[in-house]
Amino acid sequence: MKLVVLNGSPRGTGSNTKILMDAFLEGFTMAAGAVAEAQQLFLYRDSDDLLIKSFTENDTIILAFPLYTDSVPGKVKYFLEQMKDLDWLGKRIGIVVQSGFPEARHTSFIARYLERLIQRMGAEHIGSVTKGGVEGIQIQPEKWKARLKDCFHRLGEGVYRTGTFDPDILAALRKPWELSPALRRMYRLMSRVGLADFYWNYNLKKNGTFEQRFDKPYEREHHSLKSSS
Ligand SMILES: Cc1cc2nc3c(=O)[nH]c(=O)nc-3n(C[C@H](O)[C@H](O)[C@H](O)COP(=O)(O)O)c2cc1C
Repeated sequence: MKLVVLNGSPRGTGSNTKILMDAFLEGFTMAAGAVAEAQQLFLYRDSDDLLIKSFTENDTIILAFPLYTDSVPGKVKYFLEQMKDLDWLGKRIGIVVQSGFPEARHTSFIARYLERLIQRMGAEHIGSVTKGGVEGIQIQPEKWKARLKDCFHRLGEGVYRTGTFDPDILAALRKPWELSPALRRMYRLMSRVGLADFYWNYNLKKNGTFEQRFDKPYEREHHSLKSSS
């Protein structure tokens, strides 16, 4: 088996996607030993030629990316367009989509779209990870991340052993699918006291953009477009 993880995060080697997929690859290579080959490439770092070559030369391809505005980051879309004239027959493709919002439901729509695309292109879909609440791992202590990383480790082992994503692990990762009424109440309360903004404000300050947080750079253009139509 020759497997490649294609990491579609704009954060590349500093991404949450990489943290999860490193654990996946660790599980895969520990199970496979020297029998199988596996590597991770980065859509925002590696050349088109290398990515096309990796698609052609590997039998198992895991496309892993963060949810961006309920869809895929630009380079993931570009990558899929680049692959459209290649031969997908016999390829085994898995999807990993993870997001900032806690509910896995957000990620399910793009996963379903990609599942259909994979089937239409004649490849085999080996499963889709839909995981919410992942941005939190940027500030979580290692101990909290351990359970999530263990799920990805076991997912990797499973792909070597069975060729597909383990449905039980996929079901565990899908939780919470939607927030319970109690959790929704808690989030509402956190928003009211400003706790829900804490992490985002911290990032804005870190990047020196806190004062510009209410800027609307396209507003004037939007108005003139509206008035000219
Ligand atoms: C431009 C942008 C758009 C995003 N859109 C969504 C979204 O629609 N839904 C969501 O739950 N998270 C969204 N996120 C959050 C990311 O999916 C989340 O932080 C993810 O864990 C980042 O993974 P990465 O470090 O691998 O890039 C967005 C983040 C950015 C920067």
